[in-house]
Amino acid sequence: MTAIKKIGIIGAGQMGNGIAHVCAAAGFDIILLDISDEALKRGLGTITKNLDRAVAKGKLTEADKAATLGRIKPTTAYADFADSDLVIEAATEDEKIKRAIFAQLCPVLKPEAHIASNTSSLSITRLGAATDRPAKFMGMHFMNPVPVMQLVELIRGIATSEETFSLVREMTLKLGKKPVSAEDFPAFIVNRILLPMINEAVYTLYEGVGSVTCIDTAMKLGANHPMGPLELADFIGLDTCLAVMQVLHDGLADTKYRPCPLLVKYVEAGWLGRKTGRGFYDYTGEVPVPTR
Ligand SMILES: NC(=O)c1ccc[n+]([C@@H]2O[C@H](COP(=O)([O-])OP(=O)(O)OC[C@H]3O[C@@H](n4cnc5c(N)ncnc54)[C@H](O)[C@@H]3O)[C@@H](O)[C@H]2O)c1
Repeated sequence: MTAIKKIGIIGAGQMGNGIAHVCAAAGFDIILLDISDEALKRGLGTITKNLDRAVAKGKLTEADKAATLGRIKPTTAYADFADSDLVIEAATEDEKIKRAIFAQLCPVLKPEAHIASNTSSLSITRLGAATDRPAKFMGMHFMNPVPVMQLVELIRGIATSEETFSLVREMTLKLGKKPVSAEDFPAFIVNRILLPMINEAVYTLYEGVGSVTCIDTAMKLGANHPMGPLELADFIGLDTCLAVMQVLHDGLADTKYRPCPLLVKYVEAGWLGRKTGRGFYDYTGEVPVPTR
């Protein structure tokens, strides 16, 4: 059992850049891949901004910041994953995209390398079967924002070996994160519980029970949630929220998981939350402004 040292990360979006940040900070060498130089530049920009914030707060030295950034190599070429021990896939939540990624990734990987997916909801067993190494494939579900959130859900597919699970668990502990084990059911533990609540908040808005501000304030002050559900939906990304609800609806065949039509409309409009500047709030000004 060889310990993991070199890590490849696919997707430099909000999750991928966060995973690259925490892995590099823990001393792992990182190859970070995305489809374009602009996506990589944006991802590295976010990592730099987050490291700068830690330096300003006195939590990190300039030397540590430089060392962390120095361990992240951006690329658009899969060949750079040739000596990775583990590749973590954190691309868009779309099974077709993930399958296409594995088709490009597997031929360049060394046979003993492991693959983990950061999917929020898709079947680990099915994704693993789309690779050439289901025994070395598992789910590694980080929480957003990755540098802040402690939890990582670890999910075995039906074929995942104990060796892969133990190595990834050990590596998760090296990141200073707390792993919990979840079975391979749609959306695992956190999103099985969290996303139906967010979807219900969108229904509450859709049916006119409350405004954006009233719903978020009610849940913050009435249920002691640190963020309102609509604010949280914008933070997660409305496309990701919809994708998770669709997986729950299809996978568990229960109408209680029906995605709210208003959530569908927002995604169709390209109003995906913070990442596009508009969701249930408008983020183009100094402070977020509710849109309903
Ligand atoms: N947003 C969350 O709160 C959250 C939390 C946990 C897990 N996840 C999961 O993490 C994954 C990524 O989500 P995100 O929020 O970072 O999304 P995002 O939209 O911020 O980033 C996705 C990135 O994937 C890249 N990408 C798309 N197609 C690609 C391809 N073929 N090859 C390489 N890169 C490609 C995009 O360019 C983009 O940079 C999803 O599976 C999502 O379900 C998200």
